[in-house]
Amino acid sequence: MTALLVAAWLATTLLCACVASKCGSGSAQVPLLLTPYLDACQVERARCLSKVELPAMFGDGAKNGKSQSLAHIESHAGYLTTNRTLKNHLFFWHFPSPNSQAPLLLWLNGGPAVSSMLGLFWEHGPLEIDKDKYGTGNFGPHQHSWVGPFSVVYVDNPVGTGYSFSESKEDGYRLTQDEYTDDLYQFVIQFLDLFPEYRDRGLYLGGQSYAGKYVPALGYRIHKEEAGGKTKINSIGKNGQCDPGSSHYAGVNLKGVVLGGPYYDPETESVAFFDYLYSMGVISHFDTKRHKAKVKEMYHNFTLGIAAKANFSTLFTDLVLLNELPLPSLDNYVTGQDADYKAVGAVMTTPRMRKALHVGEHQSFFESNDELSELYGPDVLVSTKLKMAELMDHYKVLIYNGDYDIVVSSVMIEAALLTTPWTGQAEYNTTSRKMWGKQQNVKGFYTQTGNFCRVIVHGAGHQTPHDKPAECLEMITAFLDRGCVHNSAPEN
Ligand SMILES: *[C@@H]1O[C@H](CO)[C@@H](O)[C@H](O)[C@H]1NC(C)=O
Ligand SMILES: *[C@@H]1O[C@H](CO)[C@@H](O)[C@H](O)[C@H]1NC(C)=O
Ligand SMILES: *[C@@H]1O[C@H](CO)[C@@H](O)[C@H](O)[C@H]1NC(C)=O
Ligand SMILES: *[C@@H]1O[C@H](CO)[C@@H](O)[C@H](O)[C@H]1NC(C)=O
Repeated sequence: MTALLVAAWLATTLLCACVASKCGSGSAQVPLLLTPYLDACQVERARCLSKVELPAMFGDGAKNGKSQSLAHIESHAGYLTTNRTLKNHLFFWHFPSPNSQAPLLLWLNGGPAVSSMLGLFWEHGPLEIDKDKYGTGNFGPHQHSWVGPFSVVYVDNPVGTGYSFSESKEDGYRLTQDEYTDDLYQFVIQFLDLFPEYRDRGLYLGGQSYAGKYVPALGYRIHKEEAGGKTKINSIGKNGQCDPGSSHYAGVNLKGVVLGGPYYDPETESVAFFDYLYSMGVISHFDTKRHKAKVKEMYHNFTLGIAAKANFSTLFTDLVLLNELPLPSLDNYVTGQDADYKAVGAVMTTPRMRKALHVGEHQSFFESNDELSELYGPDVLVSTKLKMAELMDHYKVLIYNGDYDIVVSSVMIEAALLTTPWTGQAEYNTTSRKMWGKQQNVKGFYTQTGNFCRVIVHGAGHQTPHDKPAECLEMITAFLDRGCVHNSAPEN
Protein backbone atom coordinates (compact mmCIF):
# COMPACT_ATOMS: atom_id res chain seq x y z
CA MET A 1 0.00 0.00 0.00
CA THR A 2 2.67 2.47 1.07
CA ALA A 3 4.89 1.45 -1.82
CA LEU A 4 2.02 2.01 -4.21
CA LEU A 5 1.44 5.49 -2.83
CA VAL A 6 5.11 6.34 -3.12
CA ALA A 7 5.15 5.08 -6.70
CA ALA A 8 2.09 7.14 -7.53
CA TRP A 9 3.64 10.19 -5.89
CA LEU A 10 6.91 9.67 -7.76
CA ALA A 11 5.07 9.29 -11.04
CA THR A 12 3.20 12.56 -10.45
CA THR A 13 6.33 14.42 -9.44
CA LEU A 14 8.39 13.12 -12.34
CA LEU A 15 5.63 13.80 -14.80
CA CYS A 16 5.40 17.29 -13.44
CA ALA A 17 9.14 17.87 -13.63
CA CYS A 18 9.60 16.42 -17.12
CA VAL A 19 6.51 17.69 -18.83
CA ALA A 20 6.33 21.19 -17.48
CA SER A 21 3.45 21.98 -19.78
CA LYS A 22 1.36 19.33 -17.99
CA CYS A 23 1.10 21.61 -14.98
CA GLY A 24 2.31 24.84 -16.52
CA SER A 25 -0.82 25.51 -18.47
CA GLY A 26 -1.13 28.80 -16.53
CA SER A 27 -0.98 31.96 -18.56
CA ALA A 28 2.27 33.91 -18.61
CA GLN A 29 0.23 37.10 -18.85
CA VAL A 30 -1.33 37.08 -15.39
CA PRO A 31 0.11 36.53 -11.89
CA LEU A 32 0.11 32.92 -10.66
CA LEU A 33 -2.33 32.78 -7.73
CA LEU A 34 -1.80 29.50 -5.87
CA THR A 35 -4.48 29.67 -3.18
CA PRO A 36 -7.29 28.32 -5.43
CA TYR A 37 -5.19 25.19 -6.05
CA LEU A 38 -4.72 24.69 -2.31
CA ASP A 39 -8.44 25.13 -1.77
CA ALA A 40 -9.08 22.42 -4.35
CA CYS A 41 -6.51 20.09 -2.73
CA GLN A 42 -4.24 20.32 -5.78
CA VAL A 43 -1.02 20.74 -3.83
CA GLU A 44 1.24 18.91 -6.28
CA ARG A 45 -0.16 20.95 -9.13
CA ALA A 46 0.45 24.19 -7.23
CA ARG A 47 4.03 23.18 -6.45
CA CYS A 48 4.59 22.23 -10.04
CA LEU A 49 3.12 25.45 -11.40
CA SER A 50 5.24 27.52 -9.04
CA LYS A 51 8.51 25.95 -10.19
CA VAL A 52 10.98 28.56 -11.45
CA GLU A 53 12.98 27.76 -14.55
CA LEU A 54 15.76 30.25 -13.97
CA PRO A 55 16.71 31.96 -17.17
CA ALA A 56 19.08 29.22 -18.26
CA MET A 57 22.02 31.51 -18.76
CA PHE A 58 22.63 34.73 -16.95
CA GLY A 59 25.69 35.46 -18.99
CA ASP A 60 24.44 37.32 -22.03
CA GLY A 61 25.08 40.70 -20.39
CA ALA A 62 28.14 39.54 -18.48
CA LYS A 63 31.63 40.82 -19.00
CA ASN A 64 34.25 38.64 -20.69
CA GLY A 65 31.50 36.77 -22.50
CA LYS A 66 31.34 34.47 -19.47
CA SER A 67 28.14 32.60 -18.87
CA GLN A 68 27.13 30.01 -16.36
CA SER A 69 24.07 27.87 -15.93
CA LEU A 70 21.95 28.40 -12.86
CA ALA A 71 19.60 25.61 -13.83
CA HIS A 72 20.67 23.50 -10.82
CA ILE A 73 19.27 26.05 -8.36
CA GLU A 74 15.79 24.82 -7.46
CA SER A 75 13.16 27.41 -6.60
CA HIS A 76 9.45 28.18 -6.53
CA ALA A 77 7.65 31.49 -6.90
CA GLY A 78 4.09 32.71 -6.99
CA TYR A 79 1.35 34.34 -4.93
CA LEU A 80 -0.66 33.32 -1.89
CA THR A 81 -3.93 35.13 -1.24
CA THR A 82 -3.66 36.37 2.33
CA ASN A 83 -6.94 38.25 2.52
CA ARG A 84 -9.79 36.93 0.41
CA THR A 85 -12.08 39.89 1.06
CA LEU A 86 -9.55 42.48 -0.02
CA LYS A 87 -7.93 40.10 -2.53
CA ASN A 88 -4.47 40.72 -1.11
CA HIS A 89 -1.76 38.60 -2.72
CA LEU A 90 1.73 38.22 -1.26
CA PHE A 91 4.54 37.30 -3.65
CA PHE A 92 7.17 34.78 -2.54
CA TRP A 93 10.32 33.24 -3.95
CA HIS A 94 11.31 30.04 -2.18
CA PHE A 95 14.67 28.25 -2.37
CA PRO A 96 14.68 24.76 -0.84
CA SER A 97 18.02 23.72 0.66
CA PRO A 98 19.85 20.78 -0.93
CA ASN A 99 19.95 19.46 2.67
CA SER A 100 16.64 17.65 3.03
CA GLN A 101 16.56 18.26 6.80
CA ALA A 102 17.11 22.03 6.67
CA PRO A 103 14.46 24.11 8.44
CA LEU A 104 12.66 26.99 6.74
CA LEU A 105 13.66 30.63 7.18
CA LEU A 106 10.98 33.15 6.23
CA TRP A 107 12.81 36.38 5.38
CA LEU A 108 11.43 39.94 5.40
CA ASN A 109 13.24 43.16 4.58
CA GLY A 110 12.10 46.37 6.24
CA GLY A 111 11.64 49.91 5.01
CA PRO A 112 8.69 49.94 5.52
CA ALA A 113 7.88 48.84 1.96
CA VAL A 114 11.32 47.56 0.89
CA SER A 115 11.15 44.40 -1.22
CA SER A 116 12.64 41.26 0.32
CA MET A 117 14.29 40.67 -3.04
CA LEU A 118 16.92 43.02 -1.60
CA GLY A 119 17.69 40.32 0.97
CA LEU A 120 17.79 37.74 -1.81
CA PHE A 121 20.03 39.52 -4.32
CA TRP A 122 22.02 41.85 -2.06
CA GLU A 123 22.39 39.90 1.18
CA HIS A 124 22.08 36.13 1.41
CA GLY A 125 20.18 34.52 -1.44
CA PRO A 126 21.78 31.94 -3.75
CA LEU A 127 21.76 34.57 -6.54
CA GLU A 128 23.63 37.86 -6.42
CA ILE A 129 23.62 41.04 -8.40
CA ASP A 130 26.99 42.62 -9.06
CA LYS A 131 27.19 45.07 -11.94
CA ASP A 132 30.94 44.63 -12.35
CA LYS A 133 30.68 40.88 -12.64
CA TYR A 134 27.42 40.38 -14.49
CA GLY A 135 26.24 43.74 -15.84
CA THR A 136 22.97 45.57 -15.16
CA GLY A 137 19.77 43.51 -15.08
CA ASN A 138 21.77 40.34 -14.59
CA PHE A 139 22.86 38.06 -11.77
CA GLY A 140 25.05 35.11 -10.89
CA PRO A 141 25.53 32.48 -8.18
CA HIS A 142 26.31 33.63 -4.63
CA GLN A 143 28.92 31.61 -2.72
CA HIS A 144 27.81 32.53 0.81
CA SER A 145 24.09 31.98 0.60
CA TRP A 146 22.01 31.13 3.68
CA VAL A 147 20.19 28.65 1.43
CA GLY A 148 22.10 25.60 2.62
CA PRO A 149 21.81 25.71 6.40
CA PHE A 150 18.23 26.90 5.72
CA SER A 151 15.64 26.66 3.03
CA VAL A 152 14.64 30.28 2.58
CA VAL A 153 11.41 31.91 1.45
CA TYR A 154 11.73 35.60 0.60
CA VAL A 155 8.34 37.31 0.95
CA ASP A 156 7.42 40.76 -0.37
CA ASN A 157 5.51 42.39 2.51
CA PRO A 158 3.22 44.30 2.97
CA VAL A 159 1.04 44.44 -0.17
CA GLY A 160 2.24 47.27 -2.39
CA THR A 161 5.85 46.19 -1.83
CA GLY A 162 7.91 44.36 -4.48
CA TYR A 163 5.55 42.22 -6.53
CA SER A 164 2.91 41.86 -3.78
CA PHE A 165 -0.37 43.57 -4.58
CA SER A 166 -3.97 44.08 -3.58
CA GLU A 167 -6.87 43.96 -6.01
CA SER A 168 -8.45 46.59 -3.73
CA LYS A 169 -5.49 48.91 -4.50
CA GLU A 170 -4.97 51.43 -1.66
CA ASP A 171 -7.94 50.01 0.27
CA GLY A 172 -6.00 46.76 0.62
CA TYR A 173 -2.98 48.38 2.27
CA ARG A 174 -2.08 46.91 5.67
CA LEU A 175 -0.88 49.86 7.72
CA THR A 176 -1.19 48.69 11.31
CA GLN A 177 0.60 45.93 13.17
CA ASP A 178 -2.57 43.84 13.43
CA GLU A 179 -3.29 44.20 9.72
CA TYR A 180 0.11 43.27 8.33
CA THR A 181 0.36 40.48 10.87
CA ASP A 182 -3.01 39.08 9.68
CA ASP A 183 -1.67 38.88 6.13
CA LEU A 184 1.65 37.36 7.17
CA TYR A 185 0.01 34.76 9.40
CA GLN A 186 -2.29 33.70 6.56
CA PHE A 187 0.79 33.47 4.36
CA VAL A 188 2.54 31.16 6.82
CA ILE A 189 -0.30 28.67 7.17
CA GLN A 190 -0.89 28.49 3.42
CA PHE A 191 2.81 28.19 2.68
CA LEU A 192 2.94 25.20 5.04
CA ASP A 193 0.06 23.65 3.11
CA LEU A 194 2.10 24.10 -0.05
CA PHE A 195 5.34 22.80 1.53
CA PRO A 196 4.19 20.62 4.46
CA GLU A 197 7.70 19.18 4.92
CA TYR A 198 8.53 22.29 6.99
CA ARG A 199 5.96 21.36 9.63
CA ASP A 200 8.47 18.80 10.90
CA ARG A 201 11.68 20.56 9.91
CA GLY A 202 10.67 23.75 11.71
CA LEU A 203 10.26 27.44 10.98
CA TYR A 204 12.54 30.39 11.72
CA LEU A 205 11.36 33.96 11.17
CA GLY A 206 13.98 36.42 10.02
CA GLY A 207 14.29 39.99 8.85
CA GLN A 208 16.07 43.26 9.31
CA SER A 209 15.53 46.89 10.19
CA TYR A 210 11.79 47.71 10.06
CA ALA A 211 11.15 43.95 10.10
CA GLY A 212 11.89 44.44 13.81
CA LYS A 213 8.16 45.22 13.74
CA TYR A 214 6.96 42.51 11.33
CA VAL A 215 8.92 39.56 12.72
CA PRO A 216 8.16 39.83 16.47
CA ALA A 217 4.51 40.62 15.69
CA LEU A 218 4.21 37.57 13.43
CA GLY A 219 6.16 35.34 15.81
CA TYR A 220 3.94 36.38 18.70
CA ARG A 221 0.80 35.67 16.65
CA ILE A 222 2.06 32.19 15.78
CA HIS A 223 3.04 31.60 19.42
CA LYS A 224 -0.45 32.52 20.63
CA GLU A 225 -2.37 30.64 17.94
CA GLU A 226 -0.26 27.52 18.40
CA ALA A 227 -0.67 27.64 22.18
CA GLY A 228 -4.41 27.91 21.70
CA GLY A 229 -4.36 24.91 19.32
CA LYS A 230 -6.34 26.99 16.84
CA THR A 231 -7.73 25.31 13.80
CA LYS A 232 -8.06 26.94 10.45
CA ILE A 233 -10.59 26.53 7.70
CA ASN A 234 -8.73 24.91 4.90
CA SER A 235 -7.94 21.62 3.48
CA ILE A 236 -4.56 20.03 3.84
CA GLY A 237 -3.73 18.09 7.00
CA LYS A 238 -0.36 17.26 8.51
CA ASN A 239 0.02 14.08 6.48
CA GLY A 240 -1.07 15.63 3.25
CA GLN A 241 -4.62 14.23 3.34
CA CYS A 242 -7.00 16.69 1.82
CA ASP A 243 -10.64 17.34 2.41
CA PRO A 244 -11.88 20.58 0.88
CA GLY A 245 -13.61 22.84 3.36
CA SER A 246 -12.54 20.95 6.48
CA SER A 247 -10.68 22.43 9.45
CA HIS A 248 -7.36 21.32 10.77
CA TYR A 249 -4.62 22.35 13.15
CA ALA A 250 -2.27 24.76 11.39
CA GLY A 251 0.79 23.08 12.92
CA VAL A 252 3.31 25.90 12.63
CA ASN A 253 6.47 24.57 14.25
CA LEU A 254 8.17 27.83 15.24
CA LYS A 255 11.78 27.30 16.30
CA GLY A 256 13.43 30.68 16.36
CA VAL A 257 13.85 34.28 15.37
CA VAL A 258 16.70 35.99 13.50
CA LEU A 259 16.90 39.78 13.41
CA GLY A 260 19.50 41.96 11.72
CA GLY A 261 19.75 45.59 12.87
CA PRO A 262 16.13 45.52 14.12
CA TYR A 263 14.15 48.66 14.89
CA TYR A 264 11.83 47.06 17.41
CA ASP A 265 11.66 49.53 20.30
CA PRO A 266 11.41 53.09 18.93
CA GLU A 267 11.22 54.71 22.37
CA THR A 268 14.72 53.66 23.39
CA GLU A 269 16.35 53.12 19.99
CA SER A 270 15.45 56.51 18.54
CA VAL A 271 17.06 58.28 21.50
CA ALA A 272 20.20 56.12 21.39
CA PHE A 273 20.52 56.82 17.65
CA PHE A 274 22.58 59.93 18.46
CA ASP A 275 25.18 58.09 20.56
CA TYR A 276 26.90 56.53 17.54
CA LEU A 277 27.18 59.89 15.80
CA TYR A 278 28.47 61.50 18.99
CA SER A 279 31.07 58.80 19.59
CA MET A 280 32.33 59.20 16.02
CA GLY A 281 32.53 62.96 16.48
CA VAL A 282 29.92 63.72 13.83
CA ILE A 283 27.73 65.73 16.21
CA SER A 284 28.60 67.83 19.26
CA HIS A 285 27.66 67.12 22.84
CA PHE A 286 25.33 70.10 22.73
CA ASP A 287 23.48 68.75 19.67
CA THR A 288 23.38 65.23 21.08
CA LYS A 289 21.58 66.50 24.19
CA ARG A 290 19.27 68.74 22.17
CA HIS A 291 18.27 66.02 19.68
CA LYS A 292 17.71 63.43 22.38
CA ALA A 293 15.42 65.81 24.24
CA LYS A 294 13.48 66.48 21.05
CA VAL A 295 13.03 62.78 20.25
CA LYS A 296 11.84 62.16 23.81
CA GLU A 297 9.29 64.90 23.36
CA MET A 298 8.21 63.43 20.01
CA TYR A 299 7.72 60.09 21.67
CA HIS A 300 5.78 61.70 24.49
CA ASN A 301 3.57 63.42 21.88
CA PHE A 302 3.12 60.07 20.19
CA THR A 303 1.81 58.53 23.42
CA LEU A 304 -0.67 61.42 23.53
CA GLY A 305 -1.71 60.65 19.96
CA ILE A 306 -0.18 63.81 18.48
CA ALA A 307 2.77 62.49 16.46
CA ALA A 308 0.55 59.76 15.09
CA LYS A 309 -0.67 62.21 12.49
CA ALA A 310 2.81 62.61 10.98
CA ASN A 311 3.85 60.57 7.97
CA PHE A 312 6.84 58.26 7.82
CA SER A 313 9.30 60.45 5.94
CA THR A 314 8.55 63.45 8.17
CA LEU A 315 9.03 61.39 11.32
CA PHE A 316 12.09 59.61 9.98
CA THR A 317 13.73 62.85 8.91
CA ASP A 318 13.14 64.25 12.39
CA LEU A 319 14.30 61.08 14.09
CA VAL A 320 17.58 60.69 12.24
CA LEU A 321 18.57 64.25 11.25
CA LEU A 322 18.34 63.20 7.62
CA ASN A 323 18.50 66.76 6.33
CA GLU A 324 21.37 67.80 8.57
CA LEU A 325 23.92 64.98 8.58
CA PRO A 326 26.96 65.52 6.34
CA LEU A 327 27.29 61.79 5.64
CA PRO A 328 27.13 59.92 2.32
CA SER A 329 25.11 57.05 3.80
CA LEU A 330 23.54 55.87 7.04
CA ASP A 331 23.93 52.23 5.98
CA ASN A 332 27.70 52.03 6.39
CA TYR A 333 29.70 54.71 8.19
CA VAL A 334 33.02 53.60 6.70
CA THR A 335 32.29 52.65 3.08
CA GLY A 336 29.45 55.13 2.61
CA GLN A 337 27.73 52.53 0.42
CA ASP A 338 23.95 52.26 0.22
CA ALA A 339 22.13 49.13 -0.94
CA ASP A 340 21.58 49.19 -4.71
CA TYR A 341 17.77 49.18 -4.87
CA LYS A 342 17.76 50.18 -8.54
CA ALA A 343 19.77 47.10 -9.46
CA VAL A 344 17.20 44.90 -7.69
CA GLY A 345 14.43 46.58 -9.69
CA ALA A 346 16.37 46.13 -12.93
CA VAL A 347 16.89 42.41 -12.41
CA MET A 348 13.33 41.68 -11.25
CA THR A 349 11.57 43.33 -14.18
CA THR A 350 13.21 41.90 -17.28
CA PRO A 351 10.66 40.03 -19.43
CA ARG A 352 12.42 36.69 -18.89
CA MET A 353 12.42 37.16 -15.11
CA ARG A 354 8.72 38.06 -15.11
CA LYS A 355 8.08 34.86 -17.03
CA ALA A 356 10.31 32.72 -14.81
CA LEU A 357 8.65 34.08 -11.64
CA HIS A 358 5.05 33.81 -12.90
CA VAL A 359 4.24 37.42 -11.98
CA GLY A 360 2.45 38.21 -15.22
CA GLU A 361 3.38 40.78 -17.81
CA HIS A 362 1.89 43.92 -16.30
CA GLN A 363 2.41 43.69 -12.56
CA SER A 364 4.37 46.66 -11.14
CA PHE A 365 7.44 45.94 -9.05
CA PHE A 366 8.35 48.29 -6.19
CA GLU A 367 11.87 47.61 -4.88
CA SER A 368 11.13 50.39 -2.38
CA ASN A 369 7.67 51.96 -2.42
CA ASP A 370 8.15 55.46 -1.01
CA GLU A 371 4.50 56.48 -1.33
CA LEU A 372 3.39 53.43 0.61
CA SER A 373 6.16 53.91 3.15
CA GLU A 374 4.90 57.42 3.99
CA LEU A 375 1.59 55.97 5.14
CA TYR A 376 3.39 54.17 7.98
CA GLY A 377 3.77 57.33 10.09
CA PRO A 378 1.35 56.09 12.78
CA ASP A 379 3.18 52.72 12.95
CA VAL A 380 6.74 54.07 13.24
CA LEU A 381 6.79 54.60 16.99
CA VAL A 382 4.85 51.44 17.90
CA SER A 383 7.04 49.02 19.87
CA THR A 384 7.18 45.22 19.62
CA LYS A 385 9.27 44.98 22.81
CA LEU A 386 6.80 42.96 24.86
CA LYS A 387 6.29 40.53 21.98
CA MET A 388 10.07 40.18 21.66
CA ALA A 389 10.30 39.37 25.38
CA GLU A 390 7.68 36.63 25.04
CA LEU A 391 9.48 35.16 22.03
CA MET A 392 12.88 35.32 23.77
CA ASP A 393 11.36 33.33 26.62
CA HIS A 394 10.20 30.52 24.34
CA TYR A 395 12.43 30.31 21.26
CA LYS A 396 16.03 30.64 20.08
CA VAL A 397 16.72 34.26 19.17
CA LEU A 398 19.65 35.79 17.28
CA ILE A 399 20.05 39.57 17.07
CA TYR A 400 22.99 40.77 14.98
CA ASN A 401 24.13 44.06 13.49
CA GLY A 402 27.18 45.52 11.80
CA ASP A 403 29.39 47.85 13.82
CA TYR A 404 29.47 50.39 10.93
CA ASP A 405 25.66 50.61 10.85
CA ILE A 406 24.30 54.05 11.75
CA VAL A 407 20.59 53.41 11.03
CA VAL A 408 20.35 50.76 13.73
CA SER A 409 23.62 50.77 15.65
CA SER A 410 24.85 48.43 18.38
CA VAL A 411 24.07 50.96 21.10
CA MET A 412 20.47 51.31 19.87
CA ILE A 413 19.91 47.56 20.10
CA GLU A 414 21.49 47.43 23.56
CA ALA A 415 19.24 50.29 24.69
CA ALA A 416 16.23 48.25 23.57
CA LEU A 417 17.51 45.06 25.23
CA LEU A 418 18.02 46.84 28.57
CA THR A 419 14.28 47.52 28.69
CA THR A 420 13.05 44.27 27.12
CA PRO A 421 11.60 42.26 30.01
CA TRP A 422 12.55 38.69 29.13
CA THR A 423 13.47 36.25 31.90
CA GLY A 424 17.10 36.05 30.72
CA GLN A 425 17.64 39.78 31.08
CA ALA A 426 19.40 39.69 34.47
CA GLU A 427 21.88 37.14 33.14
CA TYR A 428 22.43 39.13 29.94
CA ASN A 429 22.93 42.28 32.03
CA THR A 430 25.83 40.68 33.88
CA THR A 431 27.53 38.71 31.09
CA SER A 432 30.63 40.10 29.36
CA ARG A 433 31.10 40.32 25.62
CA LYS A 434 33.55 37.93 23.95
CA MET A 435 35.63 38.44 20.87
CA TRP A 436 34.67 36.30 17.88
CA GLY A 437 37.72 35.45 15.81
CA LYS A 438 41.33 36.29 16.62
CA GLN A 439 43.10 39.53 17.33
CA GLN A 440 44.67 39.34 13.85
CA ASN A 441 41.25 38.69 12.34
CA VAL A 442 38.37 40.04 14.39
CA LYS A 443 35.06 38.78 13.02
CA GLY A 444 33.03 40.47 15.71
CA PHE A 445 31.83 40.28 19.28
CA TYR A 446 29.16 38.17 20.94
CA THR A 447 27.25 37.30 24.06
CA GLN A 448 25.40 34.02 24.51
CA THR A 449 22.96 33.65 27.39
CA GLY A 450 20.42 30.87 27.44
CA ASN A 451 18.60 30.76 24.09
CA PHE A 452 19.73 34.24 23.19
CA CYS A 453 22.63 35.01 20.88
CA ARG A 454 23.79 38.60 20.38
CA VAL A 455 26.37 39.21 17.63
CA ILE A 456 28.06 42.39 16.43
CA VAL A 457 29.69 41.77 13.05
CA HIS A 458 32.89 43.78 12.69
CA GLY A 459 33.33 45.83 9.52
CA ALA A 460 29.72 45.57 8.32
CA GLY A 461 26.89 48.06 7.95
CA HIS A 462 23.09 47.86 7.81
CA GLN A 463 23.08 45.26 5.01
CA THR A 464 25.32 43.12 7.19
CA PRO A 465 25.53 39.91 5.09
CA HIS A 466 26.35 41.98 1.99
CA ASP A 467 29.36 43.51 3.69
CA LYS A 468 30.60 40.38 5.48
CA PRO A 469 29.20 37.37 3.61
CA ALA A 470 31.52 34.64 4.92
CA GLU A 471 31.24 35.78 8.54
CA CYS A 472 27.45 36.03 8.34
CA LEU A 473 27.14 32.55 6.84
CA GLU A 474 29.32 31.23 9.67
CA MET A 475 27.15 33.15 12.17
CA ILE A 476 23.83 31.82 10.90
CA THR A 477 25.15 28.24 10.66
CA ALA A 478 26.54 28.41 14.21
CA PHE A 479 23.25 29.84 15.49
CA LEU A 480 21.36 26.95 13.94
CA ASP A 481 23.79 24.23 15.03
CA ARG A 482 24.78 25.35 18.53
CA GLY A 483 22.90 28.51 19.43
CA CYS A 484 25.57 31.14 18.74
CA VAL A 485 28.93 31.91 17.14
CA HIS A 486 31.97 30.57 18.93
CA ASN A 487 35.72 30.26 18.52
CA SER A 488 37.05 26.82 17.67
CA ALA A 489 40.40 27.72 19.25
CA PRO A 490 40.69 29.47 22.61
CA GLU A 491 40.75 33.25 22.33
CA ASN A 492 43.93 35.14 23.08
C1 LIG B 1 -9.34 40.74 5.68
O1 LIG B 1 -9.46 42.15 5.75
C2 LIG B 1 -10.67 42.58 6.37
C3 LIG B 1 -10.72 44.08 6.22
O2 LIG B 1 -9.60 44.70 6.84
C4 LIG B 1 -10.67 42.12 7.81
O3 LIG B 1 -11.89 42.50 8.42
C5 LIG B 1 -10.52 40.60 7.86
O4 LIG B 1 -10.40 40.17 9.20
C6 LIG B 1 -9.30 40.16 7.09
N1 LIG B 1 -9.23 38.70 7.03
C7 LIG B 1 -8.22 38.00 7.52
C8 LIG B 1 -8.31 36.52 7.36
O5 LIG B 1 -7.25 38.49 8.06
C1 LIG C 1 4.64 68.06 20.69
O1 LIG C 1 3.33 68.55 20.62
C2 LIG C 1 3.23 69.93 20.93
C3 LIG C 1 1.75 70.29 21.01
O2 LIG C 1 1.12 69.96 19.81
C4 LIG C 1 3.97 70.74 19.89
O3 LIG C 1 3.92 72.12 20.19
C5 LIG C 1 5.43 70.30 19.87
O4 LIG C 1 6.15 70.93 18.82
C6 LIG C 1 5.52 68.79 19.68
N1 LIG C 1 6.91 68.39 19.81
C7 LIG C 1 7.59 67.67 18.89
C8 LIG C 1 9.03 67.40 19.17
O5 LIG C 1 7.09 67.25 17.87
C1 LIG D 1 4.54 63.52 4.08
O1 LIG D 1 5.17 64.72 4.51
C2 LIG D 1 5.98 65.34 3.55
C3 LIG D 1 6.67 66.51 4.19
O2 LIG D 1 5.80 67.26 4.99
C4 LIG D 1 5.11 65.73 2.35
O3 LIG D 1 5.91 66.28 1.35
C5 LIG D 1 4.39 64.49 1.81
O4 LIG D 1 3.52 64.84 0.78
C6 LIG D 1 3.61 63.79 2.90
N1 LIG D 1 3.05 62.56 2.38
C7 LIG D 1 1.81 62.12 2.69
C8 LIG D 1 1.41 60.81 2.07
O5 LIG D 1 1.06 62.74 3.42
C1 LIG E 1 19.20 45.19 33.30
O1 LIG E 1 19.85 46.46 33.24
C2 LIG E 1 19.00 47.57 33.01
C3 LIG E 1 19.87 48.81 32.88
O2 LIG E 1 20.64 48.98 34.00
C4 LIG E 1 17.96 47.69 34.09
O3 LIG E 1 17.08 48.77 33.85
C5 LIG E 1 17.18 46.39 34.19
O4 LIG E 1 16.26 46.44 35.27
C6 LIG E 1 18.14 45.22 34.41
N1 LIG E 1 17.37 44.00 34.41
C7 LIG E 1 17.42 43.09 35.39
C8 LIG E 1 16.48 41.94 35.30
O5 LIG E 1 18.20 43.18 36.31
